[in-house]
Amino acid sequence: MTDRYSVIGHPINHTKSPLIHGLFAEVSQQDLEYGAIEGGLDGFEAQVLGFRDAGGRGMNITAPFKLRAFELADARSERATLAKASNALKFEHGKVYAENFDGIGLLRDIEHNLQVPLAGRKVLVLGAGGAARGALLPFLAAGPAHLVIANRDLAKARTLAAEVTDPRVQVCAYDALGGQDFDLVINATSASLVGELPPIGPEVFDHALLAYELAYGKGLTPFLRLARESGVAQLADGVGMLVEQAAEAFEWWRGVRPETRPVIDRLTVPLD
Ligand code: ATR
Repeated sequence: MTDRYSVIGHPINHTKSPLIHGLFAEVSQQDLEYGAIEGGLDGFEAQVLGFRDAGGRGMNITAPFKLRAFELADARSERATLAKASNALKFEHGKVYAENFDGIGLLRDIEHNLQVPLAGRKVLVLGAGGAARGALLPFLAAGPAHLVIANRDLAKARTLAAEVTDPRVQVCAYDALGGQDFDLVINATSASLVGELPPIGPEVFDHALLAYELAYGKGLTPFLRLARESGVAQLADGVGMLVEQAAEAFEWWRGVRPETRPVIDRLTVPLD
């Protein structure tokens, strides 16, 4: 019987997940169906369990349900626990397992696809919400020299830093970033979703090799535009992360790692 998977979110009409997983299934010859479900703000949990009870094997979770998916699960990975959010569920042995592959997908895109190893690098992460939380453990495991979290709400950044208790993690106000050197600048805020720039100046990019925008599909965001104007050599939107997190989920569900390069190439939209 064909195994069934789905993504659920609200709204869900722009999702690329069915396309991505469909291509993965084709190239790895896996017999599966992958759909998209418009989640209801009132009925999300019932929809997930209903999908499982109808024989579904796993789901991807997108905004605004990642926290609710995490809470609904019976068992949670360490990554999901720090993120307090889940972007992938697996239904197995009568249980709901929660994972979070966003951070590992981002890391894999940076290190493997963009060829920028994090070891020894100075990393600046903008934002301290769910996206930053998801990135933190995979980033630290990759061995950066230090990782600075900047956020408007500093208390939120401090709470996050306190949860990882790692001496390489520092918290910094936006207006105190000047004079520090960063090799990588990651925009994990949601500012780009509404066309805004986090309160940074061009000086954060003075030594940067890579500026990474997590929001995919927004083109040359104010963050990427500033990075380009500041002469950063590599700019990335979230397409590689999107495909890599999907590949992680696919492997978790199916035990087979699909090739990601052709799918990234297919989804990449030039930034200008
Ligand atoms: P996500 O899951 O996308 O991370 P979130 O948990 O709501 O979303 O977090 C949004 C993040 O974007 C927060 O770090 C927020 O900063 P504050 O905590 O200081 O509010 C950040 N953010 C949103 N809009 C921003 C803007 N215009 N400039 C800077 N940071 C912004």
